[in-house]
Amino acid sequence: MDYREKIDPKKLPRHIAIIMDGNGRWAKQQGFLRVKGHEKGTKSVRDVTEAAAELGIENLTLYAFSTENWNRPKLEVKTLMKLLVSSLRKEITTLQKNDIKLNAIGDLNSLPQNVKHELEEVIEKTKQNKRLVVSLALSYGSRQELTNAAKEIGLKVKKGELTPESIDESVINQHLYTRNFPDVDLLIRTSGEQRISNFLLWQIAYAELYFTNTLWPDYRKEDLFEAIYNYQNRERRFGKTSEQLS
Ligand code: FPP
Repeated sequence: MDYREKIDPKKLPRHIAIIMDGNGRWAKQQGFLRVKGHEKGTKSVRDVTEAAAELGIENLTLYAFSTENWNRPKLEVKTLMKLLVSSLRKEITTLQKNDIKLNAIGDLNSLPQNVKHELEEVIEKTKQNKRLVVSLALSYGSRQELTNAAKEIGLKVKKGELTPESIDESVINQHLYTRNFPDVDLLIRTSGEQRISNFLLWQIAYAELYFTNTLWPDYRKEDLFEAIYNYQNRERRFGKTSEQLS
């Protein structure tokens, strides 16, 4: 089926988040080292970014490295960081040409200096771009994000800048890395695992979840189109009844 054709441009998700999973398994299946899977995975990143831009999606957030991923073998962490730097260098021109803005969420201070530097440079160079925002979640953990938010809010209360009574959902929202972004509408996870793994817990409160068995290095544009088509054929009720919606 040609899913691209069937997508309704008026009902696009504003924010898609993806848990890119299965690089290691893909590599193992092919008889390669795990890092080869990550290398292949960068092509999928390129493909979905292009697909999202073509469709007119406003926000795409990719889980590239979790706070827990620091516990992986040293060589793998090193390779992932290297891949990140080389991809950023390679893709900057394409990002510019396609009016795509790069953003990063997570504990960026824990990244190696050169990675942070490269990232900041691309973020700075693409900050005026308008068509699509691609956010890379790096050294990201949702509990850590929420804990930080609580800490910052607590400090503001202590300093008298906020009262406890004025803390509402929007105040919490404003203290998250994603403060300027709409909630996630569609969360995709590849590789057959059906869990959230500490990703955007607050932001996915009303997201539609979509799980596919495809391993990340095999993920292509058509797979994203299929997920969006599937999303458009669900009824999002936000707690209301079907009748109220119609
Ligand atoms: C999950 O597969 C993937 C990751 C932890 C990293 C994702 C990184 C990339 C796609 C490459 C670099 C990214 C950018 C943005 C250029 P896994 O290793 O958990 O696979 P497994 O579950 O099969 O072991």
